[in-house]
Amino acid sequence: MGKVDILLGLQWGDEGKGKVVDVLTPNYDVIARFQGGPNAGHSLEFNNIKHVLHTIPSGVFHPGCINIIGNGVVIDPIILAKEIHSLEKLGVNLKLSLKISKKAHLILPSHRELDAASEAAKGNSKIGSTLKGIGPTYMDKTGRNGLRVGDILLPNFRERYNFLKNKHKEILRLYNYESNIEQHETEWFEGIELMREYQIIDSEYEINEYINQAKRILAEGAQGSLLDIDFGSYPFVTSSNTICAGACTGLGIAPHRIGEVYGIFKAYCTRVGSGPFPTELDNQIGEKIRQVGHEFGATTGRPRRCGWLDLVALKYAIMLNGVTQLIMTKPDVLGTFEIIKVAVAYRVNGYETSRLPYDINTPIEPVYKEFKGWMRDISGFKSVDDLPEELIRYIEFIEQETGVPVKIISVGPNREDTIVRD
Ligand code: IMP
Repeated sequence: MGKVDILLGLQWGDEGKGKVVDVLTPNYDVIARFQGGPNAGHSLEFNNIKHVLHTIPSGVFHPGCINIIGNGVVIDPIILAKEIHSLEKLGVNLKLSLKISKKAHLILPSHRELDAASEAAKGNSKIGSTLKGIGPTYMDKTGRNGLRVGDILLPNFRERYNFLKNKHKEILRLYNYESNIEQHETEWFEGIELMREYQIIDSEYEINEYINQAKRILAEGAQGSLLDIDFGSYPFVTSSNTICAGACTGLGIAPHRIGEVYGIFKAYCTRVGSGPFPTELDNQIGEKIRQVGHEFGATTGRPRRCGWLDLVALKYAIMLNGVTQLIMTKPDVLGTFEIIKVAVAYRVNGYETSRLPYDINTPIEPVYKEFKGWMRDISGFKSVDDLPEELIRYIEFIEQETGVPVKIISVGPNREDTIVRD
């Protein structure tokens, strides 16, 4: 009997999951996405070409690897079709390797409009959504109104589509939103036609069969634990369970089938969109991290907010996920900082705490521990023996505080820029 390993982000997304999954893929037969949708942008770089995947799992560049889009994912057929076409141009044949769950929900053009209308109505308190229709699609899922991938095989699919679209139009009218749905419908239905050419499956059965056959399976998370619908800084979150438990519901696997949980985090923190960010550096230091780290959204191009590593938040994410191995990305970005800070506690209402406060409006003052920077360019380093002593000290402190080993360190965007630590 096999186990399912899980790789997920421990911060606010953009931790570098795409690259790490791509590096780990040779160890796996199956890669499965379990939640989120095209709000994700998983960047992979090899042969000096950058690829961004939004819906398709990051195992597609490894021949022989099976890639599953699980039931917990929401799919926009327009975006999926674009991804399929651009991968085909690169010679990647997905007909055999891509499998799509019948139970995954579809993002309609009207879901995207509802997302835009809802955000516009929020004014200053907007979430900062990627506007891909994620929230409204999950709302229809839990509201029991949604359209699922399996429905595209039914004879009355068009009728069901029109029913839901018209319902959305009523809501859009209440928002006074000028709708343009019909403009996108041709492309959307072309995407649906393309999806019919791929393997549409009962993914929960298939994954459990793979487990029984002792196939090696990696579940690939999207976004990050601090954007989880239940445990993130609500309402500034995404609409799915991004934590480890989301892999059980998003793929149909039992908790005791979970093996390793790889938790990936940046050596500092970033966040796109609104919401609390206690260690944010809204100053020249933050700007320097943004420029050196190319911290601009892979999906939206928006500048990411940057700040120091937050151990209070990291420990929270490790607790929620049961992380067994840590993976640190981008310490190379901090190579020119004389002093590097890490938040080890929060000061809230004059008291020190190691917990995240419930009320997102509570002012938080991070309590920092300072580290001497390594002041060296470590990008592209290949061996753990080459790493500067100061960085080792930084890593060992994180291990000591979290109780979890840092097993992999990524020091550049390419596959080869990856150091494995025993
Ligand atoms: P939505 O899921 O597109 O509605 O966005 C909700 C919040 O999550 C916003 O703050 C987004 O910026 C953020 N978000 C959504 N997807 C990602 C991601 O893949 N990486 C980082 N942030 C994300």
